[in-house]
Amino acid sequence: MPVIELEPKLEISHKEYELIRQLVYERAGINLGDNRQHLVQARIAKIIRRKKLSCFDEYFQFLKSDRTGTEIASLIDAISTNTTYFFRESDHFDFLTASLEKRIEQAGNAPLTIRIWSAASSSGEEPYTIAMVVHQLMLKYSQLSLKLLATDISQQILEKAKVGIYPPERLKNIPKSYIRQYFRKITRDKELAYEIAPELKKLITFANFNLMIPQYPFKYGFDYVFCRNVMIYFDRTTQSAVVNKIAQHIKPGGYLIVGHSESLNNIKHPLKYIRPTIYMKG
Ligand SMILES: C[S@@+](CC[C@H](N)C(=O)[O-])C[C@H]1O[C@@H](n2cnc3c(N)ncnc32)[C@H](O)[C@@H]1O
Repeated sequence: MPVIELEPKLEISHKEYELIRQLVYERAGINLGDNRQHLVQARIAKIIRRKKLSCFDEYFQFLKSDRTGTEIASLIDAISTNTTYFFRESDHFDFLTASLEKRIEQAGNAPLTIRIWSAASSSGEEPYTIAMVVHQLMLKYSQLSLKLLATDISQQILEKAKVGIYPPERLKNIPKSYIRQYFRKITRDKELAYEIAPELKKLITFANFNLMIPQYPFKYGFDYVFCRNVMIYFDRTTQSAVVNKIAQHIKPGGYLIVGHSESLNNIKHPLKYIRPTIYMKG
């Protein structure tokens, strides 16, 4: 007898979309909005096929009953945007260099360890850019050292970041001298690719971290927190909660840097406005 495979039911109703929307909001703070139903449906359909489930309902039960957090993480991976690039919003890196130079001058020859957190690091371009910029200063000032934490909610994207291998077109914003200094040419899947040098990789600790957790567990404060291009997916209540939690972990005189299309104008927070997208803890 021929085996008849039933096509799973892949459309989601508005009510089902609302269920997903609520779950993603509760777990990741991401506000999907009314107009993302088609996108979400397409991404969920892929997951349902891959997992050989029969319909949305089965998927939703599976998602809710998974206590490991892996399934919700894969859903968030599937629907969230990981767009990033090296030297994105490059004035932030000029600011970092200038402000570090000031601190080095103030510290004189005393050892100076700088702690930086890249709080939605995606595939690594942001933390590696920070590492290149600070490493340039470390070569000039031997008293300077860096501890850089790079976190993201998506385990999948973090794995990519840790590997640190990029196709040539991703390197277009990087100064040539930095490419020579911080990348090694390799062949991957028969194509030319560039791998980040070990001396940069070793400056960074990559970890899975959801900005939505009620309390952040850091023992030491940060001198700079880059939290860029993630809060645009959050509503105001979530933005406010996240910024206030981050602020608790910034050292006095330290900075929070947000994305160019983000602003803390409409939320209450304890930070001082320095210039668009840059805030300081007093
Ligand atoms: C558009 S990328 C921004 C990357 C980088 N910061 C930049 O500006 O180029 C947004 C990243 O935020 C992550 N993200 C989304 N919700 C998050 C959450 N609740 N906690 C931590 N990271 C989250 C996504 O996985 C994604 O990698």
